[in-house]
Amino acid sequence: MKINSRILAGTSASVVLIAGLGSPAHADTAALGMEPTNAATTALSSDWRKTRSAIGVDRKLETEIDRILSGMSLRQKIGQMTQAEIKSITPEEVRTYYIGSVLNGGGSWPGKDKHASVAAWVALADAYYSASMSTDMAVKVPIIWGTDAVHGHSNVYRATIFPHNIGLGAARDPALIREIAAATAKAVRATGIDWVFAPAVPAVQNARWGRTYESYSNDPALVKAYSSAYVEGLQQRFGADSAIASVKHFLGDGGTHNGTDQGLTIASQRELVRTHAQGYYGAIGAGAQTVMVSYNSWKDADTGIDHGKMHGNRMLLTDALKQRIGFDGFLISDWNAIEQVPGCTKASCPQSINAGIDMIMVPDDWKAFIDNTTKQVEAGEIPMSRIDDAVRRILRVKLRAGMFDGIAPSAHAGAGQLAGVQHRELARRAVRESLVLLKNERAALPIKPGARVLVVGKGADNIPIQAGGWSLTWQGDETTNEDYPEAQSVLAGLRAVAGSDFTIIDGTRVGAAVGDYDVAIAVIGETPYAEMKGDVPQPAAITHSLRHPEDLQLLRTMAKSGKPVVTVLLSGRTSYVNDLLNLSDAFVAAWLPGTEGAGIADVLLAGAGGKPRHDFRGRSSFPWPGDPCVTSFAPAALAATPPQFPAGYGLRYTRPKAVSMLSVSAPQRCGMQ
Ligand code: BGC
Ligand code: BGC
Repeated sequence: MKINSRILAGTSASVVLIAGLGSPAHADTAALGMEPTNAATTALSSDWRKTRSAIGVDRKLETEIDRILSGMSLRQKIGQMTQAEIKSITPEEVRTYYIGSVLNGGGSWPGKDKHASVAAWVALADAYYSASMSTDMAVKVPIIWGTDAVHGHSNVYRATIFPHNIGLGAARDPALIREIAAATAKAVRATGIDWVFAPAVPAVQNARWGRTYESYSNDPALVKAYSSAYVEGLQQRFGADSAIASVKHFLGDGGTHNGTDQGLTIASQRELVRTHAQGYYGAIGAGAQTVMVSYNSWKDADTGIDHGKMHGNRMLLTDALKQRIGFDGFLISDWNAIEQVPGCTKASCPQSINAGIDMIMVPDDWKAFIDNTTKQVEAGEIPMSRIDDAVRRILRVKLRAGMFDGIAPSAHAGAGQLAGVQHRELARRAVRESLVLLKNERAALPIKPGARVLVVGKGADNIPIQAGGWSLTWQGDETTNEDYPEAQSVLAGLRAVAGSDFTIIDGTRVGAAVGDYDVAIAVIGETPYAEMKGDVPQPAAITHSLRHPEDLQLLRTMAKSGKPVVTVLLSGRTSYVNDLLNLSDAFVAAWLPGTEGAGIADVLLAGAGGKPRHDFRGRSSFPWPGDPCVTSFAPAALAATPPQFPAGYGLRYTRPKAVSMLSVSAPQRCGMQ
């Protein structure tokens, strides 16, 4: 009965009927022992449009794929579809199991050494590569290594870390994104790596989400422009110094209810396309070769049907993305994400493969996964045609990227060179461009030569805070300034730019004698977090000073002195900061700038004659909440409760504007939504 109505779904009448059953698609179909992915749950809407990839179909290459595929055994094919984590697999195992890919997760380095050298990365890449080239396959298939170089090559010791996407969004400069992506490709190449799990392209709709900083903006048009620029810069049509992009996370990761990580996105298909899929149109149009699937679930707001986890969603992965949009690269699953599909485990998920996932990220349980998948194909649970399609896509990407050219990682130009992972001038420029000036009273900025500048705050001399999550470690924690020998903190950057024109007083150390000063710079902010740990769950208010009372305390103390207070906020999201604004004469949103603190000094400290060296250029990538409980960026929420500052807001030295005292609302908790 349920099965029939589901198959009939697509007409509004049957859809209402199903919605009335009130149970999520995965629950009832799982109970019936069938795959939700096999049922034609609803028709694709006409909103899904085809897009033309910059990398077209090459007949000769397709013939080559046929030739390679025809010589492969089932074991070899499933090996190609398997991605293991470097901590859990040796080169010898790569050879024996015909493994198609490895990754290093956030905070995973060769030899488990946080300070692994560029040479050590290349040596490990070479070891995996030669293992893949010494199998007994008829045609040896080179292994592909993926990494989260999400703001520069951020897992690598001594690599330059660029601002997180939220800051780059404020720069509103696609050409800059292209350059950063090109530098990132160069950096991963220098370490022997082929593939980057970026760009992340959610148009985040709720500041509660702990991955908000991985988003360029809540504005889909900006996300689209940036994703295409990023892919152009990174892939470079696969010339020298290029890497393969992975656009993530498909689909709706930035739209979950209340911003819950891995949660449920409730949206119509039209909204999916208009809000959440724009980054894919941009990236795929520019030739992106891989897409990472998202942890979130999707419920169709039009039909009320809960389609369950994206990792089991054949309609969106295969029908929409591959067939309708026309994506001909491969889909990679997210970290152990298959286990969240009902009926699956970390090591077994025919549903995901049948839904259209081509390569499975099974960091640790890859051996059991290979065994299980082999049995499932032999039992007919996964059709051989699906396996062939998956491997065909993987081979296509490896061929297009030139991986079959016989060049070992260490033989690439620039491999092993520390200079390849360092792009400090570019990163410093990106920091400058990303800064957003929210307020500037009493002409607090720019600070004039001759001034005695007191620098305070927990973020002033703290690289982990300015780098944020996905920096050397997964959450960006468990690191200190010593882990970043090349980096410049905000304080160090101020000192470097100040030279002898200013007196910079370090007020960050407890008990330091600060003496007299003219202006204070207070560098406050969030402490590092990444996915899962970074959420601000309902019902907590999204007031910065509730989560970081020490920052409020500091600004209160500074304000009492009567001297101008310049606040620099380091944060991965926009939050409610009216109380902090009132205690500040000038207020700069610096986002998560990365390793180049001098980019901040470039804009704050005036040059000769008191003229700015650089004006502010950033325009806020996200709205700033005007109410501590309104955390959604959905147009309706913003219309009902206007933000304090809309997206796009940003003052300039050449375009000042008075910001008076703001009203402050201080609830601890919000109503449930
Ligand atoms: C994240 C991805 C990341 C992957 C590999 C997952 O937990 O969601 O963004 O690429 O891990 O580290
Ligand atoms: C992350 C990985 C990380 C791991 C740590 C995953 O969710 O995506 O990159 O290394 O968790 O347990």
